[in-house]
Amino acid sequence: MKGILLAGGAGTRLHPMTLAASKQMLPVYDKPMVYYPLSTLMLAGIRDILVISTPEDLPQFRRLLGDGGRFGVRFAYAEQKRPEGIAQAFLIGHDWIAGEACALALGDNLIHGDNLSALLRAAAARPQGATVFAYQVRDPERYGVVSFDAAGHVADIVEKPAAPQSNWAVTGLYFYDPTVSDLARTIRPSGRGELEITDLNRLYLEAGTLAVERLSRGCAWLDAGTPDSLLQAATFVQTIQSRTGMLVGCPEEVAFRMGYIDADMLRSHARQLGKTDLGRVLSELAEGGQE
Ligand code: DAU
Repeated sequence: MKGILLAGGAGTRLHPMTLAASKQMLPVYDKPMVYYPLSTLMLAGIRDILVISTPEDLPQFRRLLGDGGRFGVRFAYAEQKRPEGIAQAFLIGHDWIAGEACALALGDNLIHGDNLSALLRAAAARPQGATVFAYQVRDPERYGVVSFDAAGHVADIVEKPAAPQSNWAVTGLYFYDPTVSDLARTIRPSGRGELEITDLNRLYLEAGTLAVERLSRGCAWLDAGTPDSLLQAATFVQTIQSRTGMLVGCPEEVAFRMGYIDADMLRSHARQLGKTDLGRVLSELAEGGQE
């Protein structure tokens, strides 16, 4: 399975921070925001990743991520000239996807928690249909919202409903079968002029092939699109890391644990990170000092 990391958009809710910088490059505590969804894709076992961003910001992503060798993965890059919707990622990536199954991670989403790798691998292994993840929130009207019937089957999926039928928000992580890029070509822009990811998901729902995994309270899902949610995400990462000594959203660590890079490579990354806490934790991991 391939994966797209979508890191474009104007980041208007974070102005003036994003007037001259890409939102997904802003720090979430001790790492650039894009590291978190990248780690999620890697945990799902995905090693071919297309990074999509604006023509202005794409060079920064190339500089940060390179060809992917550092993390034992392969990066390709593509421009989104204008932010015309999340589902546009599959039109931009059509040729690169080349008829394979493909996941999509939004560059401002952080998911962390219990049993997550198993859930991600199961979603990546499903041969047909789409899998999305839902999380209970207090403000579902800000998101795509999925509702369920009495038997627990998916009843509907609606983008930013004024009167949400449930408090289950759809997170910014999607797994699709090989039909995705052809299906994406059939969607039309919504009232706000965007190719909505929710419209793509609705096509799978109508075909009876949309699976919705409900994330438990053992998981945390945060997006970092506003000053408050950015601060909350940073505080969350700091709290978990300083309490447990373990890392959240560190692609070097995921690469090592997944067997994409060896201990020597991890050691060299740790050295490069110098005296940072991140460098120290990675160095312990390379020496086998962490479970
Ligand atoms: O975070 C999950 C939510 O993401 C879902 O529940 C919604 O169904 C989905 O539409 C989306 O809602 P947002 O309001 O958060 O979408 P936003 O326009 O903020 O875009 C999300 C990220 O994708 C953001 O980091 C910018 C990037 N993006 C967005 C668009 C529309 C692009 O790179 N290009 C785009 O054209």
